[in-house]
Amino acid sequence: MKKLKSTLLAIATVLACLASAQARPLEQIRKGGKLIVATEGQFAPFNFFQGAKLTGFEVDVAEAIAAKMGLKIEWKTIGFDALLTGLQQDRWDMVIASHGITEERAKAVTFTEPHYCSGGVVVAKDAAIKGAKDLAGKVVAVQVGTTYLENVKKIPGVKEVKTFPQDTQSRAALQTGKVDAWVTDKFLAKTAAKEDAKFGLKIGDFLFVERIASAVGKGNTGLADEVNKALAAMMADGSYGKISQRWFQEDVRCK
Ligand code: ARG
Repeated sequence: MKKLKSTLLAIATVLACLASAQARPLEQIRKGGKLIVATEGQFAPFNFFQGAKLTGFEVDVAEAIAAKMGLKIEWKTIGFDALLTGLQQDRWDMVIASHGITEERAKAVTFTEPHYCSGGVVVAKDAAIKGAKDLAGKVVAVQVGTTYLENVKKIPGVKEVKTFPQDTQSRAALQTGKVDAWVTDKFLAKTAAKEDAKFGLKIGDFLFVERIASAVGKGNTGLADEVNKALAAMMADGSYGKISQRWFQEDVRCK
């Protein structure tokens, strides 16, 4: 009896591993006509909600990629730190949520070509706080699970790093004076500074730069190749440029 139990357990474990290692291949996605894409929905202007409607630069880019592939998107929104884990569990086919390509993440997922280039900047009310060395002795807000957190951790002398589940909460912490600085994306910071003019937010230097890409299941190169083809075609035919101008009044592709 005991033996049977342990054999069944072993079989179940193997099956679970097989299931989780099985990202939906392109042919299967094509059959259903639907690409399941997950994002956060709290990172304006890249992915956010306008009322009940999911919108943003990355939503437009993904929609255009899918259209080029002849597919519709079924969107899922979930907390930032659950996105890549969900991809590993095959809960969706692709993630687009401003992930910087890092070695650590690339061990767990397969990145496509980048859809924009940017980096983390220091945002503060005090114009004197603008670079890494100015963060010494300061309290800094960042979103958990991000490259901002990874990079701020490396800066010597920071008094405290306050982490928040959402970037919007880091932004609010700076506005209400709970922290001295906020580290976030450069383009997001630009939009925030414009929207929140009354708080007098100043944008400092790049702490680091990064290539931002969508991700598919580890080793799902069939899907990644098609996404890359569609993205390259959009960059060549002007449709990427239009979307970028619409959201940023400039072209944010990697140069
Ligand atoms: N670019 C940063 C990173 O790679 C932050 C991404 C945050 N994205 C989001 N949807 N909140 O970690």
